[in-house]
Amino acid sequence: FQPKPLRGMKVMITAGPTFERIDAVRGITNQSSGKMGFSLARAARDAGAEVTLIAGPVSLPTPYGVKRIDVESANDMLNAVNGSISVQDVFIGVAAVADYHPLQQFEHKLKKDANILQVDLAPNPDILANVASLPRPPFCVGFAAESQNLLDFAEQKRRKKRLPLLAANLVQTAFNSDSNELILLDDKGRHPLPKSDKLSQARLLVQHIGKMMRAEPPT
Ligand code: PMT
Repeated sequence: FQPKPLRGMKVMITAGPTFERIDAVRGITNQSSGKMGFSLARAARDAGAEVTLIAGPVSLPTPYGVKRIDVESANDMLNAVNGSISVQDVFIGVAAVADYHPLQQFEHKLKKDANILQVDLAPNPDILANVASLPRPPFCVGFAAESQNLLDFAEQKRRKKRLPLLAANLVQTAFNSDSNELILLDDKGRHPLPKSDKLSQARLLVQHIGKMMRAEPPT
């Protein structure tokens, strides 16, 4: 039993949605509440880590002792991550980052008329993939929310981004709820967690990360 499995480590976590602005009031976003990422920040802090939490637009209080950086868009989130990723030991991507942003952004509120409004979307940078492909990456943990073929799609994401660990969850039960039922995927296989509140899930995930990191050969 290791009460502080991440003692002395620096952990960076992304949480919540991103908001991709179209005009002064409108934008593209999703239903992530930030609860899973904020629970992980608490769990990592309680496990002894120094935590940086990079949060999209959510209405949650900052966990005590956690450094929080608020961002709006995926590009803002990437910049905030890059600001101190080189000193992190662990990176956990919990954020539901928008995959696209409007190519053109309007400063003022667009006026409506009877015509079809076309909004061209350009792809956003993949923050987790960027971090995982650094020359000296931190221990990277991904999340995947899927509405079907959960384990296949999640394992594909883990392999594509070359992640040692990924937490898979169902869109229908994970987004904006107080509980979750994560399945952890690593090179050893699948590790389903029993359904519970998000903080309990987060504590189990943090324990798993601690075990995997201790098993790594010294560099
Ligand atoms: O916030 P809650 O309401 O508590 O909900 C939690 C959650 C459902 C959002 C969370 O548990 C979760 O599953 N987050 C990942 C959502 C997802 O499906 O992400 P993705 O498949 O688009 O991305 C896979 C991984 O790459 C994620 O770790 C994501 O943070 C990261 N990613 C994705 C795209 C991108 N441009 N940059 C990224 O870093």
